Amino acid sequence: MNYQELIDDAVEAARTHLGHGRVADYIPALACADPNAVGMALATVDGEVFQSGDASATFSIQSISKLFTLALVLAEGGESLWRRVGREPSGNPFNSLVQLETEHGIPRNPFINAGAIVVTDRLLTLTGDAAEQVRQFLRAESENPALATNAEIAASEAEHGHRNAALAHFIASHGNLDNDVDAVLAQYYGHCAIEASCRDLALAGRFLARHGVRADGVRLLSRSEAKQINAVMLTCGTYDAAGEFAYRVGLPGKSGVGGGVLAIIPGRGAVCAWSPGLDPAGNSVAAVAALDAFTTGSGLSVF
Ligand code: DON
Repeated sequence: MNYQELIDDAVEAARTHLGHGRVADYIPALACADPNAVGMALATVDGEVFQSGDASATFSIQSISKLFTLALVLAEGGESLWRRVGREPSGNPFNSLVQLETEHGIPRNPFINAGAIVVTDRLLTLTGDAAEQVRQFLRAESENPALATNAEIAASEAEHGHRNAALAHFIASHGNLDNDVDAVLAQYYGHCAIEASCRDLALAGRFLARHGVRADGVRLLSRSEAKQINAVMLTCGTYDAAGEFAYRVGLPGKSGVGGGVLAIIPGRGAVCAWSPGLDPAGNSVAAVAALDAFTTGSGLSVF
């Protein structure tokens, strides 16, 4: 299979969608991203990397970080996490509050903001520094020691984070946070505001394609846990658009409002596409189009 040609073609297909989405501005520091940027990278399980377009440019990973916090909690033997957060699609926007009230402060899944706040709380308890754990993991997998949190974006999120603060306090009112609300939110913003490239994220996602085995050959998750995370990505990773994403792309995927989408091809590799313009559900229009073109062109899908 000619991976380079496939991702070059996918990026070209994505370019026709530039201008169709809106760059996130509810976190003001994200609003200055270049709406015409588009990149894609594929990292195979055998260690090859293919790149196209702006694949080396860094962007704010935002909710893609939720994938790594979940993996790190489960790796610490976190099966009990599932008593505190569900694994059903919410069918609601990523920052919605409505289900929490009737569902007793137990978020629907670990990828909506409410669920990710609970996962961050657990990782903070387990390790003492959730954001640092994510940074270290990403640096090691991508072999990019420069990978860091953008403090300006983290501060911008905190300053405009009334909704996340409301979610966290509501969850805490149900006794589902172990740490201080402000400490948990600081950690949550700290990992969302990490900056990485398509290349970095494709490399960092590869452990899920390798059924739980990290770049250095050490097993982070059991094969079964890797399957579970991929399944939750497929059903919940792109929020209330997860059905449409599964239909078009046919791979487990996790998006972020920085415009990145990381998708896993179990047994083959991880592929990340990025372009800042978002659809109303908060997923990148051109990045999803690139992944759609890639799986349509290659036939690589879990279906
Ligand atoms: O909490 C937030 O709203 C952001 N830090 C993350 C949201 C996000 O990336 C949703 N993804 N598409």
